[in-house]
Amino acid sequence: MNITMIGTGYVGLVTGTCFAEFGHMVTCVDKVEEKITKLKEGVIPIYEPGLDTLVKKNISEGRLCFTTDITQAVPKADAVFIAVGTPSSRRGDGYADLTYIYDAAREVAAHLEGYTVVVDKSTVPVGTARQVSRIIAETNPKAEFDVASNPEFLREGAAISDFMRPDRVVIGIETERAEEILREIYMPLYLRDTPIVSTTIETAELAKYAANAFLAVKISFINEIANVCEAVGANVTDIAKAIGMDGRIGSKFLHPGPGYGGSCFPKDTLALMRIVQEHGENVRVVEAAVEVNAAQKARMVKKIREMVGGSVAGKTIAVLGLTFKPETDDMRDAPAATILPALLEKGARIKAHDPQGMEEARAYLPAGIEYQENAYQAAAEADCVVLMTEWNQYRALDLERIKTSMKAAVFVDLRNVYDPVRMKSLGFNYTGVGNR
Ligand code: UGA
Repeated sequence: MNITMIGTGYVGLVTGTCFAEFGHMVTCVDKVEEKITKLKEGVIPIYEPGLDTLVKKNISEGRLCFTTDITQAVPKADAVFIAVGTPSSRRGDGYADLTYIYDAAREVAAHLEGYTVVVDKSTVPVGTARQVSRIIAETNPKAEFDVASNPEFLREGAAISDFMRPDRVVIGIETERAEEILREIYMPLYLRDTPIVSTTIETAELAKYAANAFLAVKISFINEIANVCEAVGANVTDIAKAIGMDGRIGSKFLHPGPGYGGSCFPKDTLALMRIVQEHGENVRVVEAAVEVNAAQKARMVKKIREMVGGSVAGKTIAVLGLTFKPETDDMRDAPAATILPALLEKGARIKAHDPQGMEEARAYLPAGIEYQENAYQAAAEADCVVLMTEWNQYRALDLERIKTSMKAAVFVDLRNVYDPVRMKSLGFNYTGVGNR
């Protein structure tokens, strides 16, 4: 199959590269010339484990190419995937900004030749694919096309394996012809028994929001249970284990922490709330999850303050991990971006380390944070260590070394990486989340 991918952001780049790895001929298009020049050389603008190797391999094997020229890329395509950004609108009202999608639809429309399926890959409100269809028909009345929705369920940091071994692929289609093409594109997965869920276009669009909202609810739920654990002296790790073994609940996404972040859950929960309101309905459970998430970040600030004796003013806080989760350099809506400014404002000195995210962090966090070369340098002379993101390299720290280098042996483990009993026996004043 000939596939054209519009947009070489996170989703477009991973999806296009993985399609090429399946054996399809893929052309990725982006307007940013500098990005395309770099990609042609195999230089990846994001940190995603395994992606650079796969990009280089598929370029050299002739299945993957990059261009800024949409006029060349679209006519030969059997399917054009639109994977451009859908940021929250500048009005700050939770609506997704669809300008890039509609612009892409117009440009694609002008160059369609022969039957083509135009697929929405970006996360978009219900009704967007229909609007894309209208735009294409208006721009190019002769175009022979169908639109489809094919939401992505990739996690940053695990995107390649998520793509190659998904739980399911959802395709929203209206015609058999479009379904055939999409099924052929995903055939390599089908052979590995991946279920393909074919639905209407609206169902596919909503399924994406429902999936992310459900996961956000699950995280906020366990965060609230963690807080209850702290009040009653129970242990949330054991509770997560006990309830997670029930197949109806499932053990994944039951890790308490400083709140969910990233480019998806915060944006998609708000967008879902707006979509639902427009239709005169409610998603109160999702609204509550969003509120709980904001409160959780504030609670972490309070937790740190209490652990250093009631005020962070003049205290040195060592923060390990800044990104919203490990194996990414992404700082978008990272809990650190709320928690650290609050600590700074209250007079703390912050020494921070992150294995991949420090460059990004400089753009997201206020000036004044002292970036360190490693966890040990961050902890030296600190009044408190805060483990913010559970990078593997923070899971087996030389705790004796950390403790002796600190001013006071206070450890706030916001990801419950360490065993509270062991930490206390090592002489730390330790707290986790719901895990004293
Ligand atoms: C999420 C979904 O997991 C993907 O399926 C989806 O495709 C993607 O959004 C998207 O819409 O593009 P992602 O944002 O990359 O993926 O990251 P997750 O691994 O889901 O983590 C999101 C946040 O939840 C992180 O801040 C993480 O620390 C937090 N989290 C996750 C918890 O606090 N506890 C958990 O048990 C799990």
